[in-house]
Amino acid sequence: MEIQLPDIEEIKLEDVLIKRRSVREYCSSPLTLRELSHILFAAYGVTDERGFKTVPSAGATYPLEIYVNVRDVVGVEEGVYKYIPERHSIVRILDEEVGHELALAALKQMFIAIAPIVLIIAANYERTTRVYGDRGFRYVHMEVGHVAQNVYLMATSLGLGTVSVGAFYDNEIREILKIKEYPLLLMPVGRKIE
Ligand SMILES: Cc1cc2nc3c(=O)[nH]c(=O)nc-3n(C[C@H](O)[C@H](O)[C@H](O)COP(=O)(O)O)c2cc1C
Repeated sequence: MEIQLPDIEEIKLEDVLIKRRSVREYCSSPLTLRELSHILFAAYGVTDERGFKTVPSAGATYPLEIYVNVRDVVGVEEGVYKYIPERHSIVRILDEEVGHELALAALKQMFIAIAPIVLIIAANYERTTRVYGDRGFRYVHMEVGHVAQNVYLMATSLGLGTVSVGAFYDNEIREILKIKEYPLLLMPVGRKIE
């Protein structure tokens, strides 16, 4: 099943840098497809015909894959989806949402289980190391920081909250998601409690 995501509207960025904060408590209300669309576009969306994206990438090698655990998004069935930047779409890879399992694998940071969505940013190192050798590892780690900051800023500008989560057991996350890439960051996103 593939779901076409809505087009991106322009959102003003003023004051977002000042407002950005890590948020670990979320309302119980669902996200909209529009909000999910904006978050994924900010993370790794394609911005020109050459396939270049919202984030810089060493040699435009784009080693990252973005997965999203959907627990509560209006009109989207729960499950784990893979983001397809070229089509700005998501494809379901698991039929059940795994927020609780992700939280346990992240040292019981249970806010991850409450979030309506959780992004999982994972690396295929080979795409970058085959060009740059071992130096490619650091380039991949720099790129994930660019992605995370974009997600923070977009979430903030939409009135949502997120946090970079780096504390988790890599192999457990890979087994839960049944993915071959290496997870580098989890980013739960939800509506802030005002
Ligand atoms: C690489 C990285 C890993 C992090 N891992 C976690 C984490 O596992 N759990 C968590 O609650 N916050 C985590 N954080 C968020 C930091 O705690 C947070 O950014 C810091 O307290 C500063 O607060 P601020 O983001 O609101 O400015 C992480 C941040 C970074 C950059």
